[in-house]
Amino acid sequence: MKFSHAFFEKNSLVLLIGILIVVSVGGLVEIAPLFYIGSTIEKVEGMRPYAPLELAGRNIYLREGCYNCHSQMIRSLRDEVERYGHYSLAAESMYDHPFQWGSKRTGPDLARVGGKYSDAWHVDHMKAPRDVVPGSVMPGYPFLAERTLEAGSIAADMEALRLAGVPYTDDMIANASADVAGQVSPDTKAGKAVLARYPKAQVRKFDGAPEGSPTELDALIAYLQMLGTLVDFTTFDAAGTNLR
Ligand code: HEC
Repeated sequence: MKFSHAFFEKNSLVLLIGILIVVSVGGLVEIAPLFYIGSTIEKVEGMRPYAPLELAGRNIYLREGCYNCHSQMIRSLRDEVERYGHYSLAAESMYDHPFQWGSKRTGPDLARVGGKYSDAWHVDHMKAPRDVVPGSVMPGYPFLAERTLEAGSIAADMEALRLAGVPYTDDMIANASADVAGQVSPDTKAGKAVLARYPKAQVRKFDGAPEGSPTELDALIAYLQMLGTLVDFTTFDAAGTNLR
């Protein structure tokens, strides 16, 4: 029989195999290069793993399901960039396991919420959102300020993340508990140690209560206040131009 188009059309199995071959060529062209280039994520200056207190805050963010209403990915569309700031880079979520890109926004995107408000604003907003934003449908989380942060497992958490590729060092893991306390103790040796291990970490008491051990609210606000603050966009440009 002549090996023609009609041959394929009359033999469904042959047609199927033909389709698979054609489709797999497209797949190979797209996927195979990813196995050969050193990194699929562009290296960006400033990115570092979360400090232990920030990581504890992130765990609370996951526990409370904040991601059900908030995304953390600014798309490269004009309206998003004008509202939220520079679109998100892949590198900015490379230490997120699981990632928090999200597909639903009942509330605004939080990828760059760090530094947008004061700690006091967050304290009020987390306790009773409608006290600061009258029309808000966000639930309040007043109990976070009363609960002492249980960060006993944070070192184990960091070890698990290291298995997933986050570059936590032995030093960081050994000092995890000290760093949790250190990040809420500015002007102390422990506080300075946090800053040395985690550049750009914000070291202060976040929940408005000056004394006492860190609360869950301290951890959550420490996390919110660092979101999107690590990459310096006055020196970074996705096109690779050096802006300095
Ligand atoms: C039911 C949906 C919902 C949930 C769950 C929710 N939020 Fe919100 N959030 C909103 C809405 C709506 C707004 C906008 C109105 C406002 O500011 O309260 C908002 C606003 C915010 C803002 C201010 C953002 C900005 O740029 O103005 C922050 C920060 C925030 N939420 C954090 C959180 C955190 C942290 C959690 C989890 C503990 C959480 N939200 C859970 C709906 C939600």
